[in-house]
Amino acid sequence: MLRSVLIGTGSHLPKRAVSNDELSQTVDTSDEWIVERTGIRNRYIAGDDETTSSLATEAARKAIAASGIEACSIDLIILATATPDQTFPASATLVQAALGCNGCVAFDVHAVCSGFLYAVSVADAMIRAGSAKRALVIGAETFTRILDWEDRTTCVLFGDGAGAIVLEGREETGEKPRGIIATKLHADGAHNQLLYVDGGPSTTGTVGHLRMKGREVFKHAVVNLASVLGEVLAEAGLEIKDIDWLVPHQANKRILDATAKKLGMPKEKIVVTVDRHANTSAASVPLALDTAILDGRIKPGDLVMLEAMGGGFTWGASLIRM
Ligand code: UT7
Repeated sequence: MLRSVLIGTGSHLPKRAVSNDELSQTVDTSDEWIVERTGIRNRYIAGDDETTSSLATEAARKAIAASGIEACSIDLIILATATPDQTFPASATLVQAALGCNGCVAFDVHAVCSGFLYAVSVADAMIRAGSAKRALVIGAETFTRILDWEDRTTCVLFGDGAGAIVLEGREETGEKPRGIIATKLHADGAHNQLLYVDGGPSTTGTVGHLRMKGREVFKHAVVNLASVLGEVLAEAGLEIKDIDWLVPHQANKRILDATAKKLGMPKEKIVVTVDRHANTSAASVPLALDTAILDGRIKPGDLVMLEAMGGGFTWGASLIRM
C-alpha cells in the first residue's frame, strides 16, 4: 500500500516574544482577560527582517534536517499561508529558491487557519497519484501584519510563526502501516463574513485588516471540529479511544476544551501550544506537531489526529500513523 509517510518536522518562530503584559501597555486589555478567555500568555511578532517566506524557509530547513534528506530530493513544495510576502509570486517559490531545490513543483494554498490541512491533503493525493515522491508541506504566517492594533477583540489573539513537515511516498506493509490514513476537508462560504480581511488586491487595493465575530466563530468551531473528526475516524474504522494525540489548530484553549468534552477525549491527549504561540493560523498545527515531537510526547507508531478550522469557513482533519 502506497502511503504518504511523515519523515520529519521542523518549526521556527520570530525572534521577538511579546507577553500579554507587554501588549497591555499599548492595547486596552489585560493579562487576566486574555488568559481567562483564550489561554494565551505569549505570542511572537515578526520583525522587519522576518517575513512569511523567511520563517517558512527556516522551518523547512529544520524539517529537511530531521528527515535526513537532501533539499534537492524534494519534488513538491506546498506552502499554506494567508499572509504571503507578495501578492505574487507564490511564497512557496521564494522558499524553493532559498532552499536551492529549483525545478520542482511549488505553490501556495490559501485556506487560512485550515491551510495546513488543505496542503497536507493535496500533497498526500499527489504522492498517492504518483506525481510526487517527496513533499515539503509548510504552514507559515505573519498574521500580526494584518491586525488592527486598535481592535482589542482581535489583535491580542494572533501571532507569527512557521511549521513544516516532509512527506515521502512509501510502500507500507504490516498491521499498523505508517503514514496518512484518512483526511476530510470542508468549506462553507455562507459564513465568509464572520472571519475575513477587509482589503485585497481586487477590491480596495490594500492589504486590509482582519475582522472577526469571535463568539459566532467559536460556536461553529466546536461543532465543525467535532463532526469532521468523527468523519475521519469513521473512514479509518477507528474510535476516539484509538487516538494517541490530538494536535488541534491553536485558536483558543476554551475551544480545545469544549471540543475535547464534546468528543469525550481526555485533555491529557491534546497538544496545547496556544499559551506560547497564540493563534498562528496555518502555522499552528505544524508548530504544535513539531513541539510535541521534539519534547518526546509524540513517538513513532503513535496515531495522531490533526484538525483545524478557520476563515471561509474552512475546516478539516487528518489522521496519521507516525
Ligand atoms: O483561527 C480562526 C478561528 N478563530 C477562533 O476560533 C476565535 C473564536 N473566538 C474566540 O476565541 C472568542 O470568541 C474570543 C476570544 C474572540 C472572545 O471571547 P468571548 O468570551 O467570546 O468574549 P466576547 O467577544 O463576548 O467579549 C466579552 C467582553 C466584551 O465586553 P462587554 O461587551 O461584555 O462589556 C468585550 O468588549 O470582553 C471584552 N473584550 C476585551 N476585554 C479586554 C474583548 N476583547 C478584549 C480584550 N481585553 N482583548
